[in-house]
Amino acid sequence: MQLLTDMKNAVAFLRRGEFREFLFRLSVYFRKIDLRYASADELGLSAERSFHYADSGGVHLEKILNRLNITGEESIVDFGSGKGGALITFAGYPFSRIMGVELLPELVTIARQNLKKLGISTVHMVVSDAALFTDLDDFTHVYFYSPFPGSVMAAVVRNLEESLERKPRKLTIIYCNPECHETVVNGTHFHKVNEFSHDRLHHPVYLYSNQP
Ligand SMILES: C[S@@+](CC[C@H](N)C(=O)[O-])C[C@H]1O[C@@H](n2cnc3c(N)ncnc32)[C@H](O)[C@@H]1O
Repeated sequence: MQLLTDMKNAVAFLRRGEFREFLFRLSVYFRKIDLRYASADELGLSAERSFHYADSGGVHLEKILNRLNITGEESIVDFGSGKGGALITFAGYPFSRIMGVELLPELVTIARQNLKKLGISTVHMVVSDAALFTDLDDFTHVYFYSPFPGSVMAAVVRNLEESLERKPRKLTIIYCNPECHETVVNGTHFHKVNEFSHDRLHHPVYLYSNQP
């Protein structure tokens, strides 16, 4: 039944003329990669600290990464990495370090299985509440896809600012579906430098930087 849903999803991209996304979703189907949506209720997530699980990886995320000119010096952390959809896409770029931080151990287990099926060994994950993950000094890029509400985002942004005080550097935040935009920019050193559309998910992606 779930595989049928995956196939229907893939065909929907073909119908919309999104051929590359169709091929990507077809490979997800044939390799039995589990990136299926799960609601906060299904996952037992509390509304105060979390949103649902959904995947933002694929061709549309690639379009955004292609504009960032990743050379090999960069390292990225995905806060709320779920089943690893975005991490799989990051693995196609020469990031020196790719890390996922995820609250739910069962999603990390699925992500590890997905990565194994794809032969990806360059991605690391930790089970942690995003607000408690402070090992940030080596990262140059941070990714969020609609993971949690403002209270958690405020703590993560505070941790990022403390990391920048300890180790000054340029930091780029890629925020897909930026519900907590105000929390990222208000009273912080981050400002919005660009905005893209993530066509598949029908909402904007904001790019923030702590430098002009
Ligand atoms: C919308 S999904 C994004 C998945 C992945 N980043 C992607 O783009 O494919 C958000 C994820 O954030 C996780 N999450 C929610 N609250 C969290 C928290 N407080 N700390 C860490 N992860 C959290 C959820 O379990 C879910 O897997």
